[in-house]
Amino acid sequence: MGLIPEDVIGQVIDRTNIVELIGSYIPLKKAGANYKALCPFHNEKTPSFVVTPGKQIFHCFGCHEGGNVLSFVMKHERLDFAEAVRMLAAKAGVVIPETDPGARVKDDLRQMVFKANEVAVEYYHRNLVTGKEPEVGIARDYLKSRTVSLDCVKRFKIGYAYDAWDGLAKELKQKGFSDEVILKSGLVVPRDKGQGFYDRFRGRVIFSIFDYRNRALAFGARALKKDDKAKYINSPESILYTKGRHFYGLNWAKDAITREDAVIIVEGYMDLIRPVEAGIENVVASLGTALTADQVRLIRRYTRNVIMLFDMDTAGQAATLRSLDILLEEDMNVRVAALADDEDPDSFILKDGADAFRDRIKQAHSLFDFKLGRLMAAHNAHTIEGRAMICQEMLPTIDKIPSEVVRDGYVRELAGRLQIPEEAVIKERRRLGNIVQSRPGGGEAKKAYERKELSPEESLLLKLMLVDPKWVAESRVVILPEDLKDDAIRLIVAKVYELFDREKQVGVAALINSFGDDATRSILTRLAQDDVVFNDQKRMFADCVKSIKGTRQKAERQRLRDAMKLAEKAGDWDMVRSLQEQFNTIIKG
Ligand code: UTP
Ligand code: MN
Repeated sequence: MGLIPEDVIGQVIDRTNIVELIGSYIPLKKAGANYKALCPFHNEKTPSFVVTPGKQIFHCFGCHEGGNVLSFVMKHERLDFAEAVRMLAAKAGVVIPETDPGARVKDDLRQMVFKANEVAVEYYHRNLVTGKEPEVGIARDYLKSRTVSLDCVKRFKIGYAYDAWDGLAKELKQKGFSDEVILKSGLVVPRDKGQGFYDRFRGRVIFSIFDYRNRALAFGARALKKDDKAKYINSPESILYTKGRHFYGLNWAKDAITREDAVIIVEGYMDLIRPVEAGIENVVASLGTALTADQVRLIRRYTRNVIMLFDMDTAGQAATLRSLDILLEEDMNVRVAALADDEDPDSFILKDGADAFRDRIKQAHSLFDFKLGRLMAAHNAHTIEGRAMICQEMLPTIDKIPSEVVRDGYVRELAGRLQIPEEAVIKERRRLGNIVQSRPGGGEAKKAYERKELSPEESLLLKLMLVDPKWVAESRVVILPEDLKDDAIRLIVAKVYELFDREKQVGVAALINSFGDDATRSILTRLAQDDVVFNDQKRMFADCVKSIKGTRQKAERQRLRDAMKLAEKAGDWDMVRSLQEQFNTIIKG
């Protein structure tokens, strides 16, 4: 999919009526100039979801979701940006020009590779279900020995790759796929010397990985014999598939995840298939390693509640610990379920049954208990050093928790469990907080915003600018973005100025598109929608400007005073004089 030109995106936003659009998904009730509804993105009993037709935006004062028509369909239909633009463009009758021939070719290629993968899924599956050869019998016996029924094979489109060099390659060529498409699919491996390629997967059971729209992306191939060098051989990364961006099974699980408002994340193919077969359907598999931020964001489209259920071996536990911080940073609620040491979900359900598995999920520990338990096992909590180590490992994780109340509760609990005074933990937390800079990221920034109040005069100034472009024109000449101390507001104001210079007006809905992160969008939609009665905008504007300038001058004066002290110490009198002059100008100005 090529880049969609900016002005086309603008047209799509302009031609879509946000009240009609959102009203077609949820019932809206008129409330003054706005519309209200129960928020579709979180559970609530009284409506805090507001649609403002005047600005063509929505904002939820409960969960802080907000944005324009595009953000709404992205979130509600679980589409990516380009998909959302295309969907609304089709409704609004906006034609998206395919200007970039390179992008066009690449898009066509992607579509062809999807088709080739689809043929492969069917081919492998047909082999397993209808093949008469002895090797197919062995594959079926293998699956039977793992208690995988024919129904299950059909449900998950499990397949078999013949132990031959060109079974699939022949099939794809026969169906008319070009060598380029076949190579790009990763289903074949190019020969070292000379021309041609051969099948990547041979003599193995095939699991197909689909995206959430049921398009085949990649494959995993399981060896039948224990002594095979590689247990699984996987598709390489391709124009369709990037490792750590997808989940196995999301296509089957997505409705159940929404229904249950929770997802269970496991590691392996069979760890997903087994519970889903047993009726626990809200499961996805990460396929090996620790979760990535991309994966967490993909899941967050469906739920914020995650239960991690990784293998109990050391690798699995290390991956669990690494995943936890990423989940917290992305603002997810996390719990961790445990099995016995040498179990995985597949073997556990086979041995103890689905009800026992459900119990384990119910009993999942809070993240806190899980991590503390692991640390208590690794360090000796009877020694001072051991307690210090545990404290240092726990605190950064606790500090990723969005809720202040929960964070404080955990600090108290940590002190209690380690039997040290709470003040000592708090001190340690402060010390670590000074060294460990929190990483920038959507979740973090959003949390920071929810915790912290925005500077009142800066947000009011921005609010005024969003109400009437006249204030942009006035502000433009007296306040520079650099004068603002709030990072988010500074960025937004810079963008507002830029838009104003270009178009002499600022559409909030369009403005939202220039920010990729949820935090900034949330601030923007909240400010644009905050119902403040502007009695005397002129006076308010003057007050804001005065206060912002005052704050800036105070900071500037302090800076000059510090610099003068340093210059005096160094005996640099020319410098002192020059600084003094600057100081005087500020006071006069
Ligand atoms: P495991 O080693 O836990 O395998 O790897 P498993 O899922 O229990 O496999 P079965 O039950 O014996 O068939 C977890 C996941 O890591 C990836 C696979 O996605 C696997 O499901 N993996 C593992 C590989 O990609 N390659 C390997 O050689 C091993
Ligand atoms: Mn297993």
